[in-house]
Amino acid sequence: MLSTYLLLILVLFFLLTTLIPQYIVEWQIEYRKNSLKTAGDEIGKRIDYYLGFYDSTIYTTYIDNVTRQYAGSLNSRVMIFDGNGRIISDSNNQFKQQSLDLPQIRDALEGRSTWNNYFFNDIGNVLYLAVPVFFDGNISGGVLIANSINDLYDNVDVINDTIKTIIFIVGVLITVGVAIISNHFLKPINKFYPVINKLAKGDFGDRVDVRSNDEFKMLANSFNSMSIKLDEVEQQREDFVGNVSHELKTPLASIKLLSESLLTQDKVEEKVYKEFLSDINNETDRLNSIVTELLSLVDLNKKHLVLEYEMTNLNLDIDKILDQLKPFADQKNIKIVFEELDNIMIRLDKNKIKQAIINIVHNAIVYSPEFGVVTVKLYKDRDQVVLEIEDTGYGIPKENIDSIFDRFYRVDKARSRNTGGTGLGLSISKQIVNLHNGSISVSSVLGVGSTFSIRLPIQQGV
Ligand SMILES: Nc1ncnc2c1ncn2[C@@H]1O[C@H](COP(=O)(O)OP(=O)(O)OP(=O)(O)O)[C@@H](O)[C@H]1O
Ligand SMILES: [Mg+2]
Repeated sequence: MLSTYLLLILVLFFLLTTLIPQYIVEWQIEYRKNSLKTAGDEIGKRIDYYLGFYDSTIYTTYIDNVTRQYAGSLNSRVMIFDGNGRIISDSNNQFKQQSLDLPQIRDALEGRSTWNNYFFNDIGNVLYLAVPVFFDGNISGGVLIANSINDLYDNVDVINDTIKTIIFIVGVLITVGVAIISNHFLKPINKFYPVINKLAKGDFGDRVDVRSNDEFKMLANSFNSMSIKLDEVEQQREDFVGNVSHELKTPLASIKLLSESLLTQDKVEEKVYKEFLSDINNETDRLNSIVTELLSLVDLNKKHLVLEYEMTNLNLDIDKILDQLKPFADQKNIKIVFEELDNIMIRLDKNKIKQAIINIVHNAIVYSPEFGVVTVKLYKDRDQVVLEIEDTGYGIPKENIDSIFDRFYRVDKARSRNTGGTGLGLSISKQIVNLHNGSISVSSVLGVGSTFSIRLPIQQGV
C-alpha cells in the first residue's frame, strides 16, 4: 500500500519536474515564434516595394533603418535577403552582400515561412525564422530574424527551481502532517493492543483507557463493555461449572460413604443393608434429577431453539398439573385452589410451559408448612394471560428475592437439601417464560407467603 503511494508520488514528481517545464518552454517558444513571424510580416510589408524594385544605391539606407529599428524593438538580429538569397541588410552589419546557406532562407524563397532552434556553444539557443516578402504576387526576397531564446530556458530553470522548492516544502509539510496525524491516531490504537492480547489469552480483567472525547473514546467504551460482558460470562461459566461439580459431588460422596461402610462391615443386618441401599437409591435419584434439569437448561439455552407451538386450553392443562401435584400437597395437608377467572385458549409450547408451571406450583407446596393453601389464579389482563400462584408458605427474604431465579440459587441451603432441591427449577421456568416473550415476577412476605406471577402475551408464535 505504502509502496503504491510512493510510486505515485515519484511519478508525480517526474511529471512536475520534467514534463511541465518542457511543456512550458515549448509553449513559450511557440509564442515567441508567432510574435516574431508577425513582426517579420510587418517588416515585409514595409519593405516589399523597395525589395521589388531593389536598387542598392537608393534604398539601402531606408532598408537598413527599418532593419535596425526592428532589431532594437525585437531584441533580435534582423536580416533582409533578396530573391537570390543574398543578404542586403543585416542589423549586425556582418553578412551584407553574402549568401547564407540556411534552410529557412531557402524555404522563404519558395514561399514558406519556417523556423528552427540552433544551439551555439558561445551564445546558446537561437531561434531562426524567415518569412517571404511578396511584391506583385512574386517572391522578392525575405526577412530573417535570429532571436536568442536563452531567456526562455533560463525561465524554465527558474520554474524548475520553484517546483523543486514547492515539492520540498509540501514534502516536509506532508511528512510532518502524517507524523502528527499518525501519532494522533496510533496513540489511542496502541492502547488497545495490550488489552486485546490479554483478552485473547483469556484475561478479561483489563480495560482500555482513552481520555480523548472522540470516536476512539466511543470505540474504547464499546470495547470495554464487551470485555465486561465477557468477564461476566466467564465468571458465570466458572460459577456454573463449580456449582455443577459441587452439586454432583455431594450425592456422590454420600453414595461412596454408604457403600464403603457396607463393604467394610463384616456382618451387616439385612435391615441396615436395606436402609443404606435405600439411601443410595435416593442419592442416585437426586443425581439423576440434577442431570436431567441441567440438560433441560442447556437445551433451553440453545441459540437455535425452536418452540413447538400448539393451540392450548390453558385451564385444562393447569387442571391436569394440579391433579398431578395433589399427592404431594396431600402429604402436607396443603389445599390447592384453582380460580379460573377466564377461559384461555392460547398458542404455546405446551410441554415447556407445563414444566414452568409445575416448577412453581411444586415450590409453593415444598416451601410451605403443613396445612397451607396454594391458590392458582388464571385470568386475562388486556392482551396478556396472567397466572398467579400464591402460597401461605415460609416466604422469601427481601435480600434474596432478586437471586432466586439464578441457577443453583437456594435461599436456605439446609432446608432445600432436605427438600431435595437443586436450585435450577426457577431458572428453567424463567427461561421458558422468556422464550414465550413473557415475564415472571414474585412478591413475598416472610412468614406469610409468596405470589409468583407469570404473564404471557396472548398473541404467541405469529
Ligand atoms: N414459593 C416459594 N416460597 C419460598 N421460597 C421459595 C419459593 N419458591 C422458590 N423459593 C426459594 O427459591 C429457591 C430456588 O427455587 P428453585 O425452584 O429454583 O430451586 P429449588 O426448589 O431449590 O430446586 P429445584 O431445582 O429442584 O426446583 C428455593 O430453594 C427456595 O429457597
Ligand atoms: Mg423448585
